[in-house]
Amino acid sequence: MPHDVNIVATIAVGFVLASIFGYIADRLRLPALVGFVVAGIFIGPFTPGFVADTAMAGQLAEIGIILLMFGVGLHFSASDLLAVRGIVLPGALGQIALATLMGIGLCWLWGWDFGHGLVLGLCVSVASTVVLLKALEERNLVESTLGRVTIGWLIVEDLAMVLALVLLPAFAPMMGGHAAAGEAAADAPIWLVLVLTLAKVAGFALIAALVGPRVVPWVLIKVARTGSRELFTLSVLALALGIALGSAAAFGVSFALGAFFAGVILSESQLSHRAAANSLPLQDAFSVLFFLSIGMLFDPTVLMERPQDVLALVAVIVLGKPINAMLIILLLRYPVGLALGVASGIAQIGEFSFILAGLGTSYGLVSKEGQSLILAAALVSIAINPLAFAAAEIIGRRIGVRFPRWSASWGRPKQHALNVELERIRAQSEKREHEQARKITEFVETFPLFSAVDGEAQEELLLLFVPKTASPGDRVVRVGAKGDAMYFVVSGLVEVSVNGKAVQLKAGSFFGEMALLTGAPRTADVTAVDYCNFLVLSLRDFRLFTSRHPAVRSAVQAMAEERLAMNRAAATAAEVAAATVDHSAAADK
Ligand code: CMP
Repeated sequence: MPHDVNIVATIAVGFVLASIFGYIADRLRLPALVGFVVAGIFIGPFTPGFVADTAMAGQLAEIGIILLMFGVGLHFSASDLLAVRGIVLPGALGQIALATLMGIGLCWLWGWDFGHGLVLGLCVSVASTVVLLKALEERNLVESTLGRVTIGWLIVEDLAMVLALVLLPAFAPMMGGHAAAGEAAADAPIWLVLVLTLAKVAGFALIAALVGPRVVPWVLIKVARTGSRELFTLSVLALALGIALGSAAAFGVSFALGAFFAGVILSESQLSHRAAANSLPLQDAFSVLFFLSIGMLFDPTVLMERPQDVLALVAVIVLGKPINAMLIILLLRYPVGLALGVASGIAQIGEFSFILAGLGTSYGLVSKEGQSLILAAALVSIAINPLAFAAAEIIGRRIGVRFPRWSASWGRPKQHALNVELERIRAQSEKREHEQARKITEFVETFPLFSAVDGEAQEELLLLFVPKTASPGDRVVRVGAKGDAMYFVVSGLVEVSVNGKAVQLKAGSFFGEMALLTGAPRTADVTAVDYCNFLVLSLRDFRLFTSRHPAVRSAVQAMAEERLAMNRAAATAAEVAAATVDHSAAADK
């Protein structure tokens, strides 16, 4: 097969099989990503039939990871995380430590060395954000206290894994691994490598925190003002991939961390919801490629050859981890319901485990067999995750019946404080959203002219407008001047003087459109009568907006024609009156 066909074939066959298996998984009430991984197994080198280009699929998967992490960053809310820090910081970190120890113990039983054990332990310690978000969405729990705590928990886990990804290359040689292919082995002392690595990450985080919030929203607003949807989507993707790649090149941090920060920076912008909505389809498509490529690496013979080892690993994930998490949460004095909920939410492993296992393989810290074991355990744990939720419910009910007083009182004060804090944050962010919506509604109410354009265009228009004020007596538009902008009166009163007559325009009206439409000089003087607030649309933006919204243009044009006709009629009437005056004056003489 010629090479250039390979990429098309890999994507085409991959997508076709992924949609079929994704559909089957969905029918079986399993997360669709189980279907995607199974599709990957079918096009992988370990099964007969079509074999896709593994190396290329891996590269495409890299984009999938970047977009996935970008999505996690977009949904990341620092205030939410701060609110739940009391439970998620000790909880997630303690849980990672315990699960990693369990992984090391398992590997010790299998006779593997410490380095392998550590990476495998880290792999099983981190749950899948993708799977969890899907599970929470299905149960309508994303906005609940449980949802916020579990998402916060996974963000802490993800961040810890990002750190592990960054540090792994530095520690690999010390733990019995080697440098990755094409990379020279580091001969600097380990502490220096560690300090340098952490300094790079800190430097990157600092720049991301200081420069990002200034530059990124500015770029997005500039692009949004063009009104081009494809340009906006493209810019969002360019920012995600660009920041990921740039940070990897400049600071040596992983793509995943760069992409995560790109998402966080963007999440602060008022356009974040649009950025999220626009990048979602691509994120979906590329994350399918990511799960496909994971499946392609999977050697199913491991299920036949080492079923007991797969089972042991699965037991650590679906029993060990949840029990650890439950104990920690109960010890932190939170209620049993929350503990059970979080425990079922983290009873699987997913994307980060795959990323870490992949990196571990390239540094000689995870064998091919180990990688297959991790993949098998991930598949099984994801597939049976819905059972964990069901089991948690049953156990919760049993505990309620057996120990009614304990389960009703344990952790209530802390849960209550958490609820109050989260409610406060929710109310705040709702207020912010309402504010924006209210602005738009008010704007459309004042200027019904724009009620016909869609919500996104209304939002765009607000970005195009420049506010301006005027005091009584200020001449806003001068007759005979060149037309460079159109004015919308938000509040106050202006007077248009034309042919010696005065017309008053109040809030909700506009003026200055005639010169923009005809290119001729201003036809009248417009003076502020009151303190006025205007929204000003420049000639360039007027042209741009009206070319995309012809209905608005015709409405403005109709008004201009009406005014012109009125002025002409007034002028004719004035001429007639003048002529009559002349005539009668002559007659008097
Ligand atoms: P323009 O000619 O660009 O600048 C002066 C503005 O005054 C003009 O556009 C109209 O918007 C406004 N104008 C002119 N005539 C009238 C009128 N009869 N009634 C209300 N507004 C007018």
